[in-house]
Amino acid sequence: MIRLNIPSIEQDDLEAVRAVLETGFLVQGPRVAAFEAELARLTGAPHAVAVSNCTAALHLGLLALGVGPGDLVAVTAFSWISTANVIELCGAQPVFVDIDASTFNMCPESLAERVGQLAACAETRRKLKAVIPVHTFGQMADVDAIGRVAAEHGLPVMEDAACALGATWNGKQAGTAGTLGCFSFHPRKAVTTGEGGAIVTHDAALARTLRALRNHGMDPEAGGPDFVMPGLNCRMTDFQAALGSTQLTKLTRITSARQRLAKRYDMLLAGAPVTTPAVPEGSAHVYQSYVVLLPEAAAPERPSILRRMREAGVETTIGTWHMPMTTYFKARYGYAAGDFPRADAVFARALTLPLYEHMTDDEQQTVVRALRDVLA
Ligand SMILES: Cc1ncc(COP(=O)(O)O)c(C=O)c1O
Repeated sequence: MIRLNIPSIEQDDLEAVRAVLETGFLVQGPRVAAFEAELARLTGAPHAVAVSNCTAALHLGLLALGVGPGDLVAVTAFSWISTANVIELCGAQPVFVDIDASTFNMCPESLAERVGQLAACAETRRKLKAVIPVHTFGQMADVDAIGRVAAEHGLPVMEDAACALGATWNGKQAGTAGTLGCFSFHPRKAVTTGEGGAIVTHDAALARTLRALRNHGMDPEAGGPDFVMPGLNCRMTDFQAALGSTQLTKLTRITSARQRLAKRYDMLLAGAPVTTPAVPEGSAHVYQSYVVLLPEAAAPERPSILRRMREAGVETTIGTWHMPMTTYFKARYGYAAGDFPRADAVFARALTLPLYEHMTDDEQQTVVRALRDVLA
């Protein structure tokens, strides 16, 4: 089976984890601090706070921004469900924004329209607390245009950069364009710590709050234990961080390979009845996933396309989720087909193809041949 992703785990990764395990000190410690320093250097953000996963990063990020019951948070409609779940878990309400049909990222014009409507009424203007764009599949959203809309309304931007470590938009590093940026180190990402996440920020006070929130509310700068707010336990372990550090040394190499393979897919798929990923000028896509759009007429057949690809020895999957149309959000807020027309279409037609650093030419050809056969 040609798998969707195979993490690049090598001897130095194994040795780094083993070395920590042998010390017997396994929870958050010096390896986490070292990993954070490396992540800060890599992204150019002065503060990096490692946590247990990106869902925790997003959740703590909203708590640190003061998002609470009754608040409103603008968020893209098309993402992994945790992007919206964390808003709801803060007691706030997601204000879903439709996507751009070619990049699959939050549409800045739709954001401006939606936020403008809410800001027109004093009551909802007061409740609006943040904007969350997602850098879908490893390509950054238009953080310039989104940042302008957010600034106009005095809203902080928290980037869901789960899939986008190393991606850039007009020279801006993913995660550093807004107030907070959240990353995932899940094994489907370019570099992994098993489960893992991090938040980067330029804001020292927010970083301090995040460090307290991830560790039971303990003041990270006090001489002895002192609990200054209610917190959670969202710490990363030291052996995960050791793995993270060796993985980060490979990020450029892995990303370059993924970009080369993505270009090769573009070429192999020329003339096939699918739409290959669009990359606007000024964007450096890191291809956490290589996602094509099936022809509109084939969308209803997607479950059988996935099954037949598997029978041909190729693992594929949908793109990601149309969050307002999942059972919980649809029932809670009464959304219907047509409310987010571009997310409707992209959700129905997206198909993720396998992509990993050491994918061979033969494997890529097998994937493309299988897809062409299935669609013929
Ligand atoms: C866009 C996005 N946000 C958040 C997450 C959650 O990340 P984690 O699995 O590290 O909690 C993911 C995971 O795939 C994701 O793709």
